[in-house]
Amino acid sequence: MNALVVYDSVFGNTEKIARAMGDALGNVETLSVSQVSAETIRGRDVLIVGSPTRGFRPTEGISKLLNALPKNHLAGVRVAAFDTRIVLETINSKVFRLLVDKGGYAASHIAQSLEKKGGKLIAPPEGFFVTGEQGPLKDGELERAARWAKQIVSS
Ligand SMILES: Cc1cc2nc3c(=O)[nH]c(=O)nc-3n(C[C@H](O)[C@H](O)[C@H](O)COP(=O)(O)O)c2cc1C
Repeated sequence: MNALVVYDSVFGNTEKIARAMGDALGNVETLSVSQVSAETIRGRDVLIVGSPTRGFRPTEGISKLLNALPKNHLAGVRVAAFDTRIVLETINSKVFRLLVDKGGYAASHIAQSLEKKGGKLIAPPEGFFVTGEQGPLKDGELERAARWAKQIVSS
């Protein structure tokens, strides 16, 4: 299997999740979005892309990379998307909590972009939780990420 895990991360939490996935899959590349171009993605069987949710969406880096991929660049590639997001109960402001709940999350936007470029989605978009704006990750999320990656790739 020629798989690639691509992530962006501001505070390091999404990177930890991406690396847990890469380690679980074994023998796959796990790269920061800053190291990835359309060329890096060419020829992969599996592409997993993750971003922190910032303002209900992926980071600019992830959005730019995916938007810049040529049409049908992901034809024949099995793709999946994940994000990190904040545990709603840790947001003190009721209004902000409601906004975050209703605003949506990065992974669904990533999944849409991956499909738009021809990728075949192998799992619903998935979210992994942080317990504060800068982290840390909620207990057990690294293990869940590892399980998720193994499960979607074998499906
Ligand atoms: C400017 C900003 C906007 C954010 N917007 C959201 C959001 O819309 N929804 C959400 O669940 N979390 C939001 N968060 C929390 C981030 O998801 C959290 O910082 C991220 O998961 C941490 O990942 P990282 O360490 O890889 O950057 C926001 C955080 C910041 C700093």
